[in-house]
Amino acid sequence: MTDIKTTDIKGRVINVSNRLPILIRKHAGGARVERSSGGLATALEAGWRDRPGVWIGWAGGTPNQHVDPLLIKASRNRSYTLRSVALTEEEIAKFYSGFANEIIWPLFHDMPSRCNFDPEYWEMYQRVNRKFGKVTAETATEDDFVWVHDYHLMLTADAMRQAGVRAPMGFFLHIPFPGPDVFEKLPWKYPILKSLLEFDVIGFQSDHDRGNFTSCLERLLPEAVIEHGSPHLQVRLEARRTVVGTFPIGVDFEEFAQQAARPEIEAHSAEIRRRLSGDVLVLGVDRLDYTKGIPERLKSFRLLLRRFPELRGHITLVQVVVPSREEIPNYKHLRREVELLVSQINGEFTEPGWVPVHYIHRNLGREELLAYYRAADIGLVTPLKDGMNLVAKEFCAAQIDERGVLIVSEFAGAGPELRSGAILVNPNDFAEVAQALHDAAHMPVEEKRCRMRLLREIVKDHSVQRWIRSFLQAIPATAAGGSKGRVPGLALVCDIRMAKRQSSV
Ligand code: ADP
Ligand code: F6P
Repeated sequence: MTDIKTTDIKGRVINVSNRLPILIRKHAGGARVERSSGGLATALEAGWRDRPGVWIGWAGGTPNQHVDPLLIKASRNRSYTLRSVALTEEEIAKFYSGFANEIIWPLFHDMPSRCNFDPEYWEMYQRVNRKFGKVTAETATEDDFVWVHDYHLMLTADAMRQAGVRAPMGFFLHIPFPGPDVFEKLPWKYPILKSLLEFDVIGFQSDHDRGNFTSCLERLLPEAVIEHGSPHLQVRLEARRTVVGTFPIGVDFEEFAQQAARPEIEAHSAEIRRRLSGDVLVLGVDRLDYTKGIPERLKSFRLLLRRFPELRGHITLVQVVVPSREEIPNYKHLRREVELLVSQINGEFTEPGWVPVHYIHRNLGREELLAYYRAADIGLVTPLKDGMNLVAKEFCAAQIDERGVLIVSEFAGAGPELRSGAILVNPNDFAEVAQALHDAAHMPVEEKRCRMRLLREIVKDHSVQRWIRSFLQAIPATAAGGSKGRVPGLALVCDIRMAKRQSSV
């Protein structure tokens, strides 16, 4: 694993996110610890392995579950400490399900008609952001760097300053940032934009998201001055200065590749292929979320079977979904819609010895996931909108035989990044996706190898370790409160180093 140069931070990095990498779930005999799903938890956990620090977040469940002993146990085999922020039932309903996932999530994914702009949610969002701010203030010293992650915590910079945090602070948005026509629908757009500018560094997944953010500033906050620079921009608002950059997130390529090569994974993958009688295996892996385009994907697969009858009996879609945000009505409907479509397609096409869609509704363990990635001939990643989509990158990293083809949505951050080796599709164009599946199923071995080799080079180069390194190197030496603990000018040196490396990619 490449070492992350954080020499310009004297103290620790304190990661703050809504979710911790572990999830404490109630069951009949008490509580058990599970791995959290989702890109943020997977990426940070992989990138932070062997690094000291603190990770502050919610461990799932409610305060009456005694999480501390379980957290202490889970911290024991990690290099960093886990610290939990307990959420009450009401906070979970109005902050997590409500403001974060019924307002910001759909809005930032360009789906404003799915938003429920309940003012009580806003009250609770402010309250819980203050709560995270207080817990961070109890932990951070001015030599530390506080790195806040994602849309649940956009008000924390202000909350932390109020609670006495003097460390420099950064924010990374793991999901897309919408354009001004969508963002301005948010009743609380001004306080959110202003609070974001309280951070010393803000990071986005793509230049497109960063461009949307600066367009929102230009339209809604014209007093903010945008200074263009390379590789990052700076925004000045009153006495504050914020670095605004693009930092595409990645996966731990070496770890995925090494694990995928293990004999047990190879045997498991061969067993999956044997059971599918050597059919072309198309794989979808997602959280069960309406942004992932699962119904659209199923309709595209149905169109493939209708348009190309010669493929019937020879191609199988394995769709794995992990249950997600099940208390929210939109997610309940989605589950019903997906299950109905799966049964309709299977009802229409199943023949003795062949079932077209295999539907798995659970969180796969890492080994099983790797076995599916290796077994698949086609990785079908077609979100309607996605910040990055790590499944696309994990699929490539695990393709050590270079025999798989990646079909990826042009609306995922990973789409433009991987376009040179993948087949790029519009997930709303079922005919285009069906044609892409047909082409991938008939692609000559040499072309597949050539494309996958290219993809694996990109994924290897844009690893999660590089993501962390480049974000930390963007912290300005003048960052609020933190300049005392930092070597003046070092961040600038790092920036120049980064710029050189990026231009040589
Ligand atoms: P998001 O963050 O929106 O969930 P990503 O594709 O970026 O989307 O990340 C999803 C992460 O969750 C990946 O690391 C993936 O391996 C994991 N994941 C998704 N579905 C499953 C599943 N059914 N079983 C196990 N892991 C899953
Ligand atoms: O990567 C996007 C992300 O929204 C994370 O912020 C989040 O933790 C994850 O997906 C899964 O969602 P949830 O935390 O609601 O289960």
